[in-house]
Amino acid sequence: MPVTSQQLIQWKQQGRIIAALTAWDYAIAQLIDAAGVDLILVGDSMAVVLGYETTLPITLEEMLFHAKAVRRGVKRALVVVDLPFLTYQESITQAMHSAGRILKETGAQAVKLEGGYPAMVETIARLVQAGIPVMGHVGLTPQSVHQLGLRQQGKTEEQAERILNEAIALEQAGVFSIVLEHIPADLARQITEKLSIPTIGIGAGSYCDGQVLVTSDVLGLSAKQPPFAKTYTNLRETITQAVQNYAVEVRERKFP
Ligand code: KIV
Ligand code: NA
Repeated sequence: MPVTSQQLIQWKQQGRIIAALTAWDYAIAQLIDAAGVDLILVGDSMAVVLGYETTLPITLEEMLFHAKAVRRGVKRALVVVDLPFLTYQESITQAMHSAGRILKETGAQAVKLEGGYPAMVETIARLVQAGIPVMGHVGLTPQSVHQLGLRQQGKTEEQAERILNEAIALEQAGVFSIVLEHIPADLARQITEKLSIPTIGIGAGSYCDGQVLVTSDVLGLSAKQPPFAKTYTNLRETITQAVQNYAVEVRERKFP
């Protein structure tokens, strides 16, 4: 049975932990879905595999193209798609249009938007009222890299209180889940205890209701990765070895 956004809320009540990963194409999506992750995020972090330095340049058209490919590969996991930078911040109308295109054209079940400031909370409330499941994202929000850098957020008491209040406001606006990125574990625990919707941590300690990582980091495909990522295999090494072996065999007429 496919996972639904409402089910994830029930899992929190039951204490069932959510395992999430990102995907950017059909092959990766099919593999990680069949391997049993619960939520697949078509994150704008796919900037990495597209060769961009930050998530800012990604367009809605690029997200749509990749989200369609991912969706074709997924049978069970809930598919959530990031709205890219400046395709939802301008106005509620713009956000509705962008989120609508994601749901209508890709078959994904939900969208994710960064930020918990008042105007974003209002935008998210309107999307939810229109029937669009929304995931929130607070703490380090990479689309604000030129303001925040990629530093841990919520280290001062004032910052921590702001992030907690943003998470509460997002829950009230109707998000079904919130990503907590790169914040102290203690703050993530506080937020997780306060909310009835599941928190999905990345670099946010071990007290969240679920975890997400960028799949290219998990697989060792990324040239550089954040300090909180964990690499479970080294595909860069595997691929380099395979390609070198192939080239040698071709040149020495060992293959075919
Ligand atoms: O784009 C992404 O991969 C994300 C996750 C890090 C949560 O937003
Ligand atoms: Na993202």
